[in-house]
Amino acid sequence: MSFIELAKNRYSCRAFADKAVEPEKLETVLEAGRLSPTAVNGQPVTVKILKSQESLAKLRSISRMAYNAPVVIMVCYDENKVYSPVTYHDDFKSGIMDSSIVTTSMMMQATDLGLATLWARGFNAAEIEKAFNFPANIKLACFLDVGYADSENGGPSPRHPVRKPMEEFASEI
Ligand SMILES: Cc1cc2nc3c(=O)[nH]c(=O)nc-3n(C[C@H](O)[C@H](O)[C@H](O)COP(=O)(O)O)c2cc1C
Repeated sequence: MSFIELAKNRYSCRAFADKAVEPEKLETVLEAGRLSPTAVNGQPVTVKILKSQESLAKLRSISRMAYNAPVVIMVCYDENKVYSPVTYHDDFKSGIMDSSIVTTSMMMQATDLGLATLWARGFNAAEIEKAFNFPANIKLACFLDVGYADSENGGPSPRHPVRKPMEEFASEI
């Protein structure tokens, strides 16, 4: 499948089948994340894998955004390792951007393997960091829920195909 076909096929899944993700597929998804670029190759991103019933139940008791996915990847970054262009007098910090490219790579790799995903950030990160005893420098950027789509309810939402027209999206300056 070409990349543009993959991009067209991907959608946010919010209902997963009662089917485990094969370990080798999960490995490949994680490898795609590990190979992602980061600012100055600082690699501040670490991911936490939740797949035991215990971990998933704990997360679901705090956040609805894990849905019923058999695997949730928490994408995190080390605040002490992020890039900031301070010499250019700019207070940008790369943590969320680095985490986003890692998440995107894993999401598209999962799609290529026939898996369904949901990128989620609708939660209180501090609450989850505390519940899972993250060190103070480790920040939770987002979840990537991964599994197989439920054949009845796991399809795209009606909003999925709604995208702004190209002329609004891209303009020459
Ligand atoms: C940064 C980000 C945060 C998101 N957070 C959530 C979330 O907390 N819960 C949820 O159900 N979907 C979440 N989504 C999924 C978006 O709602 C979804 O991508 C968007 O509606 C477009 O639909 P599609 O992914 O099916 O094309 C998030 C997506 C992104 C990129």
